[in-house]
Amino acid sequence: MSTPLDRKIAFITGGNRGIGFETARQLGALGILPVIGARSAEAGRDAVAQLREEGIEAESIVFDVTDDADHRRAFDFFQKKAGRLDILINNAGVYLEGEPGGAPRYLPSTVPDKVLRATFDANLFAPIAVTQALLPLLRLAPAGRIVNLSSILGSLTLHSDPASPIYDAKATAYDASKTALNAYTVHLAYELKGSTTKVNSAHPGWVQTAMGGSNAPMNVVDGAKTSVQLATLPADGPSGGFFHLGDPLPW
Ligand SMILES: NC(=O)c1ccc[n+]([C@@H]2O[C@H](COP(=O)([O-])OP(=O)(O)OC[C@H]3O[C@@H](n4cnc5c(N)ncnc54)[C@H](OP(=O)(O)O)[C@@H]3O)[C@@H](O)[C@H]2O)c1
Repeated sequence: MSTPLDRKIAFITGGNRGIGFETARQLGALGILPVIGARSAEAGRDAVAQLREEGIEAESIVFDVTDDADHRRAFDFFQKKAGRLDILINNAGVYLEGEPGGAPRYLPSTVPDKVLRATFDANLFAPIAVTQALLPLLRLAPAGRIVNLSSILGSLTLHSDPASPIYDAKATAYDASKTALNAYTVHLAYELKGSTTKVNSAHPGWVQTAMGGSNAPMNVVDGAKTSVQLATLPADGPSGGFFHLGDPLPW
């Protein structure tokens, strides 16, 4: 039997660093209990210790997004801890085509199958599997919120517009994985229509992290804001959309 928790509980995959860690911090500052999913137990513990030093209560669980056994353990953890899950942030992701924030080293005609598959495993198949595993608990929350960390680089509209700022930024595997994740957002939102559970795609911005690199114009504090906004949408908020800092982005 689970003990009811007196506040919202959020799960942030890849929450030990980068945008995910800052998202955990900002959700915690709002009085939500952030649970950090981290591949390394030590990295998870360190992240929690850092938040606790700042007066933010948090927890961590060992969680590789590509590991089904971790999905089952996470389900058991949230069931026991709260009997529900209020917020799922599918944040963990990889960019395997170049240096952080750098140009891709492959063309669409040369991108290796291995890179495509590893990218799709982490950025598409894993968030779908994690969502499927935890959806029963999100449905038990009064206002379940799912946030899929996509990217503006997943926008087909912008990629096909020579005037768009991302026209020349073509990382085939990464971009296609985020386009497909956006498709999942739309399809899941259709299934959830009429329920209290919402799902949206987030573009955090180009953010200074291990992935974004040091030339990125945004810091993590601003980079986490879109995830936090979508995680805390009111009942009349959107579902099945693609947003950056409150503004809709084209698919
Ligand atoms: N930074 C940007 O400019 C930018 C722009 C658009 C979209 N995004 C998206 O925003 C999200 C967060 O990006 P970020 O910049 O914060 O990246 P980051 O600093 O590179 O952090 C990535 C996080 O994902 C985790 N991760 C990777 N593979 C994992 C796996 N198999 N299982 C569990 N965790 C895994 C990493 O864990 P470890 O510490 O164990 O490696 C790390 O915690 C990503 O989905 C990314 O695509 C970022």
